[in-house]
Amino acid sequence: MLLQNKNAVIYGVGGAIGGAVARAFAREGAKLFLTGRRRAPVEAVAKDIVSAGGSAEAAEVDALDEQVVDKHLQSLIDKAGRVDISFNAVGIPGTKILGVPLVELDIVEGIALS
Ligand SMILES: NC(=O)c1ccc[n+]([C@@H]2O[C@H](COP(=O)([O-])OP(=O)(O)OC[C@H]3O[C@@H](n4cnc5c(N)ncnc54)[C@H](OP(=O)(O)O)[C@@H]3O)[C@@H](O)[C@H]2O)c1
Repeated sequence: MLLQNKNAVIYGVGGAIGGAVARAFAREGAKLFLTGRRRAPVEAVAKDIVSAGGSAEAAEVDALDEQVVDKHLQSLIDKAGRVDISFNAVGIPGTKILGVPLVELDIVEGIALS
């Protein structure tokens, strides 16, 4: 398995891509820290993964709130030692991101993309 002993945090797990990526990472053995703006859909994905024998925990994290993201990451590092993978699957409607070079994005848009 490609991701055994890797700690992965995923943002936007309640969405189509976030949920699919979480399940794929779980199949590869990652220990998952799943987040989304609303807890219920994230918990549903975590429950599926744990039922299938994987490792996943859910948290409510607004990926565009820098302080909330930092606090959540610090709690992961305190608990798990390190974060190996960060995957952002957050959907941002009406965004200015398309066509804008990464270095020209402001901090909030940059966080959303990273
Ligand atoms: N699906 C595709 O084929 C495709 C292809 C290329 C690119 N993309 C891009 O990939 C991203 C995800 O696509 P998707 O199809 O998975 O979208 P989606 O099904 O609409 O899911 C987006 C998820 O992001 C969550 N979200 C939005 N703002 C958030 C925030 N501030 N903090 C945390 N979570 C937040 C949403 O939560 P709520 O439910 O609370 O709104 C939702 O669960 C989008 O930016 C999309 O443009 C998608």
